[in-house]
Amino acid sequence: MGKKVTVVGAGFYGSTTAQRLAEYDIFDTVVLTDIIEGRPAGLALDMNQSRPIEGFETRVVGITTGPNGEGYEGIGGSDVVVITAGLPRKPGMSRMDLLGVNAKIVRQVSENVAKHAPNAVVIVVSNPLDEMTALTQIATQFPKNRVLGQAGMLDSARFTTFVAEELGVPVASVQTLTLGSHGDTMVPVPSQSTVNGKPLAELLPADKIEELVTRTRNGGAEVVGLLKTGSAYYAPSAAAARMARAVAEDSGAIMPVCAWVDGEYGISGVYLGVQAEIGATGVKRVVETDLTDAERAALEEAAEAVRAKQADVASL
Ligand SMILES: NC(=O)c1ccc[n+]([C@@H]2O[C@H](COP(=O)([O-])OP(=O)(O)OC[C@H]3O[C@@H](n4cnc5c(N)ncnc54)[C@H](O)[C@@H]3O)[C@@H](O)[C@H]2O)c1
Repeated sequence: MGKKVTVVGAGFYGSTTAQRLAEYDIFDTVVLTDIIEGRPAGLALDMNQSRPIEGFETRVVGITTGPNGEGYEGIGGSDVVVITAGLPRKPGMSRMDLLGVNAKIVRQVSENVAKHAPNAVVIVVSNPLDEMTALTQIATQFPKNRVLGQAGMLDSARFTTFVAEELGVPVASVQTLTLGSHGDTMVPVPSQSTVNGKPLAELLPADKIEELVTRTRNGGAEVVGLLKTGSAYYAPSAAAARMARAVAEDSGAIMPVCAWVDGEYGISGVYLGVQAEIGATGVKRVVETDLTDAERAALEEAAEAVRAKQADVASL
């Protein structure tokens, strides 16, 4: 049987993710859903008409879902579900300002996903990311390895882009890593960041690295500030689509994701940005990497910050 992936939420993030997934041409079907009547069907029709030009056979199906779960039967049999439903930030807002409103949306979506796609791996992107990932696991009651969140791939891609631009080198020669939360306690990891295998610290002065780290931490807000309405979606959708692909292909790729941490780095019982091996079962294992004392302390701080917030989401 061919693979099926569902993207919930046909806004900017969801529609660009669906398009990327379709263009991979590795799925039989990409399902795109939204609560706005006609929008997913219209986008699906449009994407399908790009098939002869881009040369892919995957079919995109658009479904409008109702407040009582109407339409969700169409996601049945999905191997992967990407949840993008929810409000994005406006200038001046923090991701945490979205907590109450997006929790209601994500809980409703998760309950329907659990009912209609009980074997899916769920990739969460709705913000605030770490909290919405924890909530999705609670609301679906899926095993923790089958629920993960997208943040680290995007944050690392931003860090990589800034480093490449600063040094005037191809992005492909730069390797960076960010861990921790998708928020104020994001932990960019310069000690694991290299250019053509050379440590970043040998190529840039410490204050310049710190400047790029700060820009990475504020990378989402920088885009929001320019757009005025809505938030980033090209780089975010690239990250979520790659994660969904790793699940569908059972590739075992190691990616920075928001995963359930159970003892790694001496941290337990929290969804946190770490590197993990991704495959058909979701997170196959969390991969620990060497950190400096300061980076390790920052990761522990991030864990405590998100732990406190994640404890509250069960009641939302
Ligand atoms: N994790 C990340 O790195 C990252 C990056 C960028 C954006 N985001 C988040 O992704 C989310 C989506 O962003 P966007 O730019 O696509 O926003 P958007 O406003 O363009 O789209 C959101 C869509 O969700 C739909 N929706 C609302 N409730 C729904 C429900 N119950 N079921 C199905 N669909 C529903 C809306 O109708 C809308 O079409 C936001 O929460 C944003 O903050 C996360």
